[in-house]
Formats: sequence, structure tokens, C-alpha cells
Amino acid sequence: MNEKEVIDSENRLMANVFGKRKIVITRGKAATLWDINGKEYVDCMGGYGVALLGHCHPKVVAAIKDQVDKLISCHASLYNDKRSEFLQKLTAVTPKGLDKAFLSNSGAEAVECAIKLARKYTGKPEIIAMMGAFHGKTMGALSATWDKKYRDPFLPLVPEFKHVPPDNLDKVREAISEKTAAVLIEPIRGEGGIRVPPDGYLQGLRKLCDEKNVLLIFDEVQTGFGRTGKLFGCQNWGVTPDIMTLAKPFAGGLPIGITVAKENIMSAFKVGEHSTTFSGGPLVCAAGCAAIDAMVEENLCEQAASKGKYFKVCLEELKTKHAIIKEVRGLGLMLGVELRFDVYNVMMKCADRGILVLDAGRNVLRFLPPIVITTEQIDKVITVLDAVLGEEENARTASGTPLN
Ligand SMILES: Cc1ncc(COP(=O)(O)O)c(C=O)c1O
Repeated sequence: MNEKEVIDSENRLMANVFGKRKIVITRGKAATLWDINGKEYVDCMGGYGVALLGHCHPKVVAAIKDQVDKLISCHASLYNDKRSEFLQKLTAVTPKGLDKAFLSNSGAEAVECAIKLARKYTGKPEIIAMMGAFHGKTMGALSATWDKKYRDPFLPLVPEFKHVPPDNLDKVREAISEKTAAVLIEPIRGEGGIRVPPDGYLQGLRKLCDEKNVLLIFDEVQTGFGRTGKLFGCQNWGVTPDIMTLAKPFAGGLPIGITVAKENIMSAFKVGEHSTTFSGGPLVCAAGCAAIDAMVEENLCEQAASKGKYFKVCLEELKTKHAIIKEVRGLGLMLGVELRFDVYNVMMKCADRGILVLDAGRNVLRFLPPIVITTEQIDKVITVLDAVLGEEENARTASGTPLN
């Protein structure tokens, strides 16, 4: 198929729910993608966080190739060597105490499991989430997601979800009631604009939940697995939740969702109360084992921290040059640049020049590159962004539009 045929066929045959860019990607290696015409891109979209280890990481590729001839699927009602190995590797790296896991296929599913588990364990229905939060789009996860544009077409959602202003412990305290099962929060809000909490907030939330006997759930679907420079985002603040959700990069690019909890909490689920057909399939688990090995053996967390620091300093330098940059935020390789206007044109112009960048809301450029991105690639991103922002500024000045 040529470029036009691919685009036409996806447009015709696939549900029209993705804001698509007219780029047909056919190959990837590390932090580089190539389109069907051979054009090269630096990938700062990183598959919305999936390609954290880099595209086609050699250890993941080898593990998949090795497993694929042995066994691809195996329902969790039977035991499997790769599932067992993955669970051991996983719980060896999760924060202390979070050592019992439910395996699923996506972030939203991991969140669904966490919500059900909190209700089952506490016998209470209410979940407190944050304004600005994103937890996925299935009905339970969507009930915890904040943005009206995702929620309103599907009302009524699951009852007993409350949203409170973020970064404000008093508002959480006021919201907690006799009915509250859990507080659910992303350690750093991703979709909500790369918002890092103020120091002391997550520690305070832990203390408050303990005081009120309410569970604390961290949604680490985007922050988990080294992205922020620590293996889990919560480790930046030394806080451990009762339940944690993981997904995106954990199986090196294959679909996975993981809900980990303290043993006594996960044990609240009785046989049959929660399940999914694909839970912990051998192929996914083989890839997951390789992903965890790569993370540990190649010191990828440290790389995320040091490259993230370099990237952020470069972005902050751009802020001193361009009045249209309002703020630079983030930790490790989870970075955001808030502009004073819509980022759409900037994203499209960057793509034309071989840089793929995400948005996070209308005004924020989001960078979720693979950890294996090189310094040269970061420099290229900065050069292109510098030029594009300059052009946008000039266009606005010429048309008399204020820059701030
Ligand atoms: C924090 C968070 N939770 C949950 C989800 C949902 O994950 P998925 O799209 O795999 O269902 C996302 C997706 O971006 C996310 O960022």
C-alpha cells in the first residue's frame, strides 16, 4: 500500500476517534521513527509514553522472538513460566509492600481494577479524584477523569465519584466522608498539562489518607517505569500508595495494564470477582521481563533523570528567548512547555521538520521521548522548536496579535 492508500483505508475503516496526523509510520529504532517515504522523525510523542525503552529495544525483540515459537497465549486459569517470571521481576522492583498484582491490557483497565478493588476492600463506594485528572476512557476510569469533553457525551457515569481541586489538602480533607473508599491521583498530571505537585503535597495526602482510614491510589500509567527519573513517580517524594496502576511501557511496547496492591488489599478479590481473558499472556510477559531487565541493566532511570535535566535546561533557555512560552514544567523525560496560545500549529510545523511532539490540553506541548533519545536528538528538537516558535511569534507580531 502507498501512503494515500493507507490513510484512505484507516479513515474509511477505523472509528474516527483519534485526532490523526497525516504521517504513515512504518519503522522505528530507539528514538527514531521513519515514515512510508523514508522521512526520519525524532520521536518525542513516544507512543503517548509506550515507547519509553525506545522502539524495538533489542532485548524486547529477542524475548518476543524467543517466546513466539513456544507459546503465545495461556489463560490465567493455567500456570505459565513466563507469567511467573514476570510477576517475580515486577514485584522485585515495585515499592516495598506493593507485591500482589493483577495483570490486564491497558491503563484504563488497570484503573478499573483499582477502583473495584478499593470498593471491595473497604466496602465503601466513593472515590475522590482530582480536577484536571486523566485516568482513561472506560466507564469507571472515565468517571474519575475530569475533562467534560470526554465525560459529557456518556453521562450518566459511575456514581460516587467526586473531584476536588488539585494540590490542596484541605479540599481533600473536606471531601472525605463516611462513604470514601479511596483517593485516586496521578503523581504528576500528564494529560492535565504536566503538573508536578508542590513539595509536601503527596506526603500530606498519604498522612491524611492514613488518618482517615482511606486508601491512596496512585495512577502511574504515565509516570511509572523510569519516566520521571525514578522507577515510579511516587519515589520522587518517598511516598508509597496502597494501590498503584501501571501500563504503557511496561511490556516494551506490547499492550499491558498492571494493578499492584498490598497483599491484604488485593486479597479482598475472591475468585471470579475480577478477571480478563488475556491476563498475563506469555508473549506479553516475556516482553515485560525483557523490559524490566533492560530498565535495570542499562540504568535507564538514571538516563531519564540526566537527559531530562539537560532537555529541561534547554527548554528553559528557549523560554528566555520566546515570550510566547509561559512555563516549562516536568520531571525526568516527562516535560511540558506551556505556551500563551494554542499549540496545534507548533506541533504540525515541528512534524513537518521531523520532530514529533504531543500536546496536553490546548496550550501545552508535551514531550515523552524514549529514554534512549540522544543528546544530539534533543539538540535537534530544541533547534527546530526555536525556529518554529520564532516564526509563530513573528506571524503574531505581524498580524498585531499580542504575544502574551
Ligand atoms: C495517568 C493515566 N491513566 C490512565 C490512562 C489510560 O490508559 P490507556 O489509554 O492505556 O487506557 C492514561 C493514558 O494516557 C494515563 O495517562
